[in-house]
Amino acid sequence: MPLIRETIVITANREGHVHIAPIGLIAENGDWIIAPFRPSTTLDNLMAVPFATASHTDDVRVFAGCLTGQHLWPTLASEEVPVPRLADALSHAELVVKDIKDDPQRPRLRCRVVRLVSHMPFQGFNRAQAAVLEAAILVSRLHMLSRNKIERELTYLRSAVEKTAGPREVEAWTWLAEKVAAHFASANPAKPAKN
Ligand SMILES: Cc1cc2nc3c(=O)[nH]c(=O)nc-3n(C[C@H](O)[C@H](O)[C@H](O)COP(=O)(O)O)c2cc1C
Repeated sequence: MPLIRETIVITANREGHVHIAPIGLIAENGDWIIAPFRPSTTLDNLMAVPFATASHTDDVRVFAGCLTGQHLWPTLASEEVPVPRLADALSHAELVVKDIKDDPQRPRLRCRVVRLVSHMPFQGFNRAQAAVLEAAILVSRLHMLSRNKIERELTYLRSAVEKTAGPREVEAWTWLAEKVAAHFASANPAKPAKN
C-alpha cells in the first residue's frame, strides 16, 4: 500500500490562470504521483504546463473551501516552477512532471521534487483537522456514495470536531455540512447509489 499525503496542488494553464485543488500525492521511489480522475482541470493544466506545487497546510478551510466552491486562496510565487504556492503553507514542494502514464479514468503523472521549503513550524496533530479532511473526501464523492453511508460517517466524524476544533475547523466543517445538506435537498431519489 503506498503512502499518500493530502496536499493542496496548484497548477496553471497556458494563459497563466491558476487552479487550486486538494489532491492526495502518492509516494513512489522518491517521486510523487499526481493521479487526477478525469475530467480534471488539474490534469488539463498539467498536460499543458507540466509544473505544480504541493502546499502542506494545517488550515483545513482550504481543503473544505475548494470542495465547496471557494478557490480563491492567497498564493505567492515559487522559485523553480512557473506556478505559485499557497501563501500560508507550512511547507511546500515544487514539482516537475517527468512521466505520464495515461489512463481513460485516472492517469498517473510522476513528478520530481525540484525544491522543498519549510515556512512555519508544524504544531501537532488535531483530530478535528483529520475529521474535516475525511469529510471533504466524502463531499468529493457525494455523487457515488449512499446517503446512509455519508450520514453515518459524518456522525462519527462530528464528534472529533465538537471535542477538538478551533474556529478554522468549525468554519470548514460548516461549509461541508451545508454542501451535504444542499446535495440531499436536491438529490434525485431515482439515482442508484453505491454503499
Ligand atoms: C483530501 C483530498 C484528496 C483528494 N485527492 C484526489 C486525487 O488524488 N485525485 C482526484 O482526482 N481528486 C482528488 N480529490 C478530489 C478533488 O480535490 C476534486 O475532485 C477536485 O475538484 C479535482 O478536480 P479538478 O482537478 O478539476 O479541480 C481529493 C479531495 C480531497 C479533499
